[in-house]
Amino acid sequence: MANVPAPIDMTKTPEWEALQKHYDALQGNISLKQWFADDPDRVKKYSFDLGDLHFDLSKNIITDETVQDLVALGKAAGVEERFQDMLHGVHINTTEDRAVLHTALRRPKSDEGKFIVDGQDTVKDVHEVLDRMYAFADRVRTGEWKGVTGKAIKTVVSIGIGGSDLGPVMVYEALKSYPHAVDVRYISNIDPNDAAEKLKGLDPETTLVIVVSKTFTTLETITNATEVKTWLLQTLKEQGAIDGSDEQNAQAILHHFVAVSTNLEKVAEFGIDPANAFGFWSWVGGRYSVDAAVGFSLIIAYGKETFQDFLAGFHEVDEYFANTPLEKNVVALMGLINVWYVNFFKAKSHAVLPYDQYLHRFPAYLQQLTMESNGKSTRWDGTPVTTETGEIFWGEAGTNGQHAFYQLIHQGTQMIPADFIAFVNTPNPTKVGDQDIHELFLGNFLAQTKALAFGKTADEVRAEGTAEWMVPARCFTGNRPTTSIFGKALTPHTVGNLIAVYEHITFVEGTIWGIDSYDQWGVELGKQLAKQITPAFHDDEALAKQDASTQALIDFYRANRQ
Ligand code: F6P
Repeated sequence: MANVPAPIDMTKTPEWEALQKHYDALQGNISLKQWFADDPDRVKKYSFDLGDLHFDLSKNIITDETVQDLVALGKAAGVEERFQDMLHGVHINTTEDRAVLHTALRRPKSDEGKFIVDGQDTVKDVHEVLDRMYAFADRVRTGEWKGVTGKAIKTVVSIGIGGSDLGPVMVYEALKSYPHAVDVRYISNIDPNDAAEKLKGLDPETTLVIVVSKTFTTLETITNATEVKTWLLQTLKEQGAIDGSDEQNAQAILHHFVAVSTNLEKVAEFGIDPANAFGFWSWVGGRYSVDAAVGFSLIIAYGKETFQDFLAGFHEVDEYFANTPLEKNVVALMGLINVWYVNFFKAKSHAVLPYDQYLHRFPAYLQQLTMESNGKSTRWDGTPVTTETGEIFWGEAGTNGQHAFYQLIHQGTQMIPADFIAFVNTPNPTKVGDQDIHELFLGNFLAQTKALAFGKTADEVRAEGTAEWMVPARCFTGNRPTTSIFGKALTPHTVGNLIAVYEHITFVEGTIWGIDSYDQWGVELGKQLAKQITPAFHDDEALAKQDASTQALIDFYRANRQ
C-alpha cells in the first residue's frame, strides 16, 4: 500500500459514541419549529457565505451539540490533515497508488514551482496545456481553423462517457445563456441511437470532433469515435468534398478530429495528430476532470475568459476549504451533516434540487461524482468498512420534481435530506402581467423548504374543515432536512464554486468512512463480462458458457431479432 496510514475506524471512537448518545437523546425531541422559536440566532449561526454563494443550513436536524460533535468527529478523522496530504500529492488513492490533484488544475500560474509531485511541476504542466487549448480554441472560434474543404467550424461533437462527458455536458448546459461561438453536441452512450440522433442534420465540413477519453481504451468512446469517423469520411465523400483515397481520408481526420487523453500513443494510432491532442495526468480522476482538458469543448464554445472564471470559482472554494476551521467551514459541515444523516438517521438517499433550468444535468453529474467515489464496501487499506457508506444522489430541476416525486420527500416514510440550489438573478427576466416569473419560481423554492421543515399539524388541517378520517393524510410532519444554496447568479464562477463544494463534501464523507474516493473498481466486472457475453448473440459455444438466465435472454433475442 502507498505510504498512507490505515484509516481510523471512526465507529470505535469516543466522538462517534458522543454522536450516538446525542442522536438517542434527540429521539422524540426533534422540532425545527421549536428550535427556531427558541433560538433567534439560529439562521445567523448556520448561515455562511462563500464567494457568490450563500448557504443556509438552519433547516437541518442539527443543534449546537450536533455541530460540536460532528466537528470533533471530523477532527478526529483527520479531515484537515488528509486534505493537506491531498493538496501536496500524497498518494491517497491507495489502490491505484496515485496522487489526487484535481486542485492543481485550477491553481494560478503564480503557483508554478510550488506543487512538485513525483518530480512533476503540476501547475506548470497544467498551464502549458491550458495555454495550448486556449490558442487552439481561439483559432476555431475566430474561423482561422478550417475543415478539410476550407470552411470554418460551426459545430463541435464531443465524444466521451462518464467523467469524460457528464461534467462538460452539465457545464455546457449550465452556461447556455452565455454567448457561444459554436454549438456542441455530446455523444456518450454506445447505443447507436445516441450518435444517430446527435449527428442528424450535421455538415461534416463544418464539424470538429473531440474524442475525450482519459484511457483512450473505453469501449463506448472508441466505438462511437470510430462510428463518427466513418460517418464523417463517408458523408464528405458523398458530398464530393474528398475522393475517399487514404491520403484524403487522413487529411480529413487531421482537420476534423482532436483528442483529449492521457494516452497519446493510442491517440496517434487512431489517426489524430498528436499536435492536436491535449493531455492530462493520472492524478486527475475522470469524475474530477471537467476543469482539465476534458472541458475543452467548453473552451471552444465559451472562450478563454469564461473558462478562467470557471477555474477561479473552483480555486476560491479550494482555498476556503483548506484555510477555514471545520466549525466555520460550510463545505466541511455539509459533508459531516451528510454523515450524520447516513450513519445515525440511516438516510439512504440525498436529493439535489436545482431551481434553475440551466442546471438540469447537475444531479446526473453529481451522481457520478458522489456515487462512483463513495459507493464502496472496502476501506483504503483493503479492510471492510465498518458502517454504512455512500448516498444515492438523485434529483431533477425544480419545479418539475414538485409534480413528480416531492410527495415522497414530504410524506414518505424515509428521511431524504435535500439540497435546494437557486439563484437571485436570472438571465431571462420575464413578466406575465405584473407578476415577475422568476419570483414566482423562487417562491416555490422557498415554499418547499418551509413545508419540509415546519410541516402542517393536525389542528391546522382540521381548521380547514377537513373530515376527521382524512386529517392524517393531509398532515405534514415537518422536520425534513434541507440545505438552501442561494447564489447571486448562475455564472461560470458559481458553477466552478458549486462543483468544488461537492467535490470536497465527497472528500469529507470518504475520509470519515475510510474510503479511497478516487478509485472505481466497481465498474470493472461489468466491462469484462460484456466482452465475454457479446459473442454469445451469434456463437453457440460462447452461449453455452453463460448462466441460465443470460442464456434465456439471448434465446429471446435470437428468436425476435428482425
Ligand atoms: O466507467 C468508469 C470510468 O472509468 C469512469 O470513471 C470514467 O470517467 C469513464 O469510465 C470514462 O473513462 P475514459 O475517460 O478513460 O474513457
